[in-house]
Amino acid sequence: MKLSTYEPDALPPGARSLSYGLFCWLNRHTTVLRAIGALLRRWPAIGGRFGVVARASAVKDVLERTRSFSNTAHAANMVSGDYLIGMDPGPTYTADRDLVHERLDALDVPNASDEEARKRIAILQAGERTFDLIEGYLMWVVFHAMKPLFGSATDAVVAGSTDQSAQGAVDEGLQRQYMLEIRYVAGQLLAGSLATLELRRRAETCGDALQARIDRVTGPIGTAWGIKSASEDIERNAVGLAWISHPVTVQSGALVVQELLGRPKVYDQLWLRARSLGDRVWIDADFRRDVRDHVLELMRFRPIFPLLARDVPRDTELQTGARQNAKCPGGGKISLLSVAALFDPSAVPDSGRFCPNRNWGKEDPLRYLMFGYGYRQCPARDHAVDILTSALIGLLTLPRLQLARGEGKAITYDGPLMLSMRMRIT
Ligand code: HEM
Repeated sequence: MKLSTYEPDALPPGARSLSYGLFCWLNRHTTVLRAIGALLRRWPAIGGRFGVVARASAVKDVLERTRSFSNTAHAANMVSGDYLIGMDPGPTYTADRDLVHERLDALDVPNASDEEARKRIAILQAGERTFDLIEGYLMWVVFHAMKPLFGSATDAVVAGSTDQSAQGAVDEGLQRQYMLEIRYVAGQLLAGSLATLELRRRAETCGDALQARIDRVTGPIGTAWGIKSASEDIERNAVGLAWISHPVTVQSGALVVQELLGRPKVYDQLWLRARSLGDRVWIDADFRRDVRDHVLELMRFRPIFPLLARDVPRDTELQTGARQNAKCPGGGKISLLSVAALFDPSAVPDSGRFCPNRNWGKEDPLRYLMFGYGYRQCPARDHAVDILTSALIGLLTLPRLQLARGEGKAITYDGPLMLSMRMRIT
């Protein structure tokens, strides 16, 4: 069976559950994906036959040929409606892209993320010795940093109401509820077409709720954005920005911390440096740069999107690295094993080693492949890395941390999503 014509919807429920389970397992075990990637890099013709590319050169090539390999592959999994990431180029794409850049310019990172990280760390220090990294920390750091996306309309969005008294009643409980809603909408993009029916149903319910809440507050959002576009344009962008910004950053933060704790020596080194800096930990530029480099390297080992997909609108071919080009029939799909490209020894020196200070030379753009590549790369790339850097600096100011094993599982999953990550302050 050719992957390019692979249709999960045609599978019987049992087979779909099985393939979904395998997909989630592989997502959590990136070393296995990397091993598969190494085989496909070695014998690219095999991947080519199934519409999968793994070599860095091939992955970059596909991501740069935006006309031949289309982002519409995402569209089917966007349960709350169309948005930039799943569109082909055109006037709507260009207008939405300008808007997202404008909204991102309003962010004040790392100041805002530092501020919230410090606040949350103080709360954690005063509290129990165990806490949930996601619900007790990362969710809030990211939420606070992202507030300027909706600016003065943030409370209206969270309340789902233009009513001043409803907005006045916005508390952490409501904010949490909003963040869970957008989490499941984003989760559908991560789970992709393999998601089981139950998962889809939940994502669709949350997608409907998100649409309804935004629909009620397009007025305040338009005012906050200083635009008088048609409300459908505001709605599309507001819905899209809500689910695309927060959950992926939170999940990436959890993956970064998970990978760091799995490398006790690296964690100890950073922790000791943070300790020796004392009060200067938040303002020392060298330390921040180094933590940022660590965040990127940790993301390389645990990218939230180890695979990307593209639609093939019309017949074409692609260079996989094999002697012959692979045929890509129109109407099919291509899978990009980006995690394999991030470990391609022909592009990344000493690729298997954890090395935050690696000199990437002319391959520096590849370093950010966790955010895509080329024209369609994530516009929030640097903001997201800055936010995760603030979050990690905050965690390094705490006494030593471990996963809170012993009271059941420290990490609980929901498909490809991490629901909670219990930590213990030792
Ligand atoms: C650590 C956090 C994040 C990661 C790992 C991430 C990852 C990605 C990736 C891999 C893509 C490209 C997908 C593809 O080429 O198929 C992408 C696109 C995008 N991301 Fe992010 N993202 C993050 C945070 C954010 C945030 C905070 C925003 C907020 C606005 C955002 C907005 C977007 C948008 C609008 C696109 C579509 C760009 C286009 O198609 O032109 N992302 N992101």
